[in-house]
Amino acid sequence: MRKIIISAVAKNGVIGLGSVTKPDRKKNGDLPWHISEEFRHFKQTTLGYPIIMGRKSFDALGKPLPKRENIVISRNRGLVYPFNDIKIFNSLNKAFEYCEEKQYEKIFVIGGGQIYAQAINQVDEMIISKLDFDAEGEVFFPAFDEHEWEIVKRDKREQFEIFWYKRK
Ligand SMILES: NC(=O)c1ccc[n+]([C@@H]2O[C@H](COP(=O)([O-])OP(=O)(O)OC[C@H]3O[C@@H](n4cnc5c(N)ncnc54)[C@H](OP(=O)(O)O)[C@@H]3O)[C@@H](O)[C@H]2O)c1
Repeated sequence: MRKIIISAVAKNGVIGLGSVTKPDRKKNGDLPWHISEEFRHFKQTTLGYPIIMGRKSFDALGKPLPKRENIVISRNRGLVYPFNDIKIFNSLNKAFEYCEEKQYEKIFVIGGGQIYAQAINQVDEMIISKLDFDAEGEVFFPAFDEHEWEIVKRDKREQFEIFWYKRK
């Protein structure tokens, strides 16, 4: 099973607003930007595959993303959502074990900061959209050593460039 991080990261490393407030926050979830093409790339890449996310990221989305198995990580064992089609696990490893049992070909870790930080040493691949600009926010992508990763593909789009990394 291929474990893949997918993220969009501003030039200064910011991935989310955190407690910074923005007037259009509802529209954008907790993301400090809105780039339709980047959303399209995320959707095309993840469609049909399980997506694993932290509880805060799921709350920012507000509902499950369609046509993907939505898996939420929370320490809150009493957590309940009014959606049938999500799975909740109380650790990232339990979520990975569940996906292994299901024999999924690949799974995507879609954030946020806490979950990326815990997953980055366990994933085999990363697909990172590096945005051309700095963003305001309090949530960051974890630092990683570029020497441990090989860039296997790059694709420059307007306002961002997508990097496909494989662990060396
Ligand atoms: N730019 C991007 O690509 C991107 C992608 C996704 C998200 N984001 C942004 O990232 C931000 C959210 O990131 P975040 O770091 O604040 O939160 P997060 O990683 O989405 O979620 C954190 C929550 O996950 C649960 N959790 C974390 N570690 C756990 C563990 N070891 N065991 C069990 N549960 C665990 C806890 O939930 P409980 O509190 O319920 O226990 C914790 O509060 C948002 O602003 C979002 O928009 C950006």
